[in-house]
Amino acid sequence: MKLKIALLPGDGIGPEVAAQAVACLQAVEETFGHQFEFTEAPVGAIAIDQTGDPLPEATLDLCKASDAVLFGAIGDPKYDNDPAAKVRPEQGLLRLRKELGLFSNIRPVKVFPTLIDKSPLRKERIANTDFVIYRELTGGIYFGEKFLSEDGNTASDLCIYSEEEISRIAHLAFKAAKTRRNKLTLVDKANVLESSRLWRRVVTRIGESYPEVELHYLFVDNAAMQMILNPSQFDVILTENMFGDILSDEGSVIGGSIGLLPSASVGETSAMFEPIHGSYPQATGKNIANPIASILSAAMLLDHFGLDEEAAAVVSSVNKALKKGMVTPDLDPQSKYGTDDVGHFIAGHISDSDDFKGLNQENIGLGKSTII
Ligand code: IPM
Ligand code: MG
Repeated sequence: MKLKIALLPGDGIGPEVAAQAVACLQAVEETFGHQFEFTEAPVGAIAIDQTGDPLPEATLDLCKASDAVLFGAIGDPKYDNDPAAKVRPEQGLLRLRKELGLFSNIRPVKVFPTLIDKSPLRKERIANTDFVIYRELTGGIYFGEKFLSEDGNTASDLCIYSEEEISRIAHLAFKAAKTRRNKLTLVDKANVLESSRLWRRVVTRIGESYPEVELHYLFVDNAAMQMILNPSQFDVILTENMFGDILSDEGSVIGGSIGLLPSASVGETSAMFEPIHGSYPQATGKNIANPIASILSAAMLLDHFGLDEEAAAVVSSVNKALKKGMVTPDLDPQSKYGTDDVGHFIAGHISDSDDFKGLNQENIGLGKSTII
């Protein structure tokens, strides 16, 4: 298969981890005989430094002309600590999601058996965790009208949703549930918010077309608690933009490191793959960032294009690294291995063709069922 991939490494540790994802995709190219053409472009703080714009037109055009976008990370403390900044790196990512129509953000949360002891949560609580968050990504409070009064003393952000925005992601989430354990939990705040009540009405109605899927409702505050108390109760979680942002960071704690969680953002015509973590500025250039979330995002890319065996080979290689203790210090403070050691190891084992042939399901950390 020929794929044009726009590579947007972004800020902080973004370039370091994205480089390892590229190395893995190149190993897949060689091993399986595909052609992936990578074209790099700036986004985020680095793009502001270069052009004044966190999403330069040339970057956006490249993404639109590509089959997929591989994204590193975004953000820089110099903007975080300056509430008056008019231009911010995050605007680049948000605009990119909006322009590419990436309305559905898919974030699988699964405990790797080899890492169960690394979690700050008790083993017996988190065993068998395997859920996927469907986060609406181009609506809600992130994109509603913003207001700041002239005296700077009053501000508001509007949380607005249309039925259409809710139903298109709801269908994807129900379809995903059908390929998994037939359970969908809508997370909202319908006891307080009108927009959440719309979500309930729309999702309940759509649920009638998926009779095999059990539909549950949870208020977001309760969901945040349940996710830590008993994460294995969840299969597919469907939620709006900001709740999904918060819950997915919380979900990352279950597996022991935010450096492990990948994501796919998909729309009608485009798809983007990125780790859920941020730019981790304190680690920039130190070769300590965990590349696994980025590498697993590359596996989601492969899966998105139907390259199941290739995705499984990447995931199998990740599992091998974890089993061998070939991990960065976030997972093992004694570890001497850096971002590039872990990435080279994983890329290097993708071609061990004998290993991935006949993979059993247990070895596949990211089942196809979690990815559309
Ligand atoms: C995420 C990030 C982004 C978000 C930021 C960087 C704008 O936290 O992808 O979860 O809030 O969506
Ligand atoms: Mg987030």
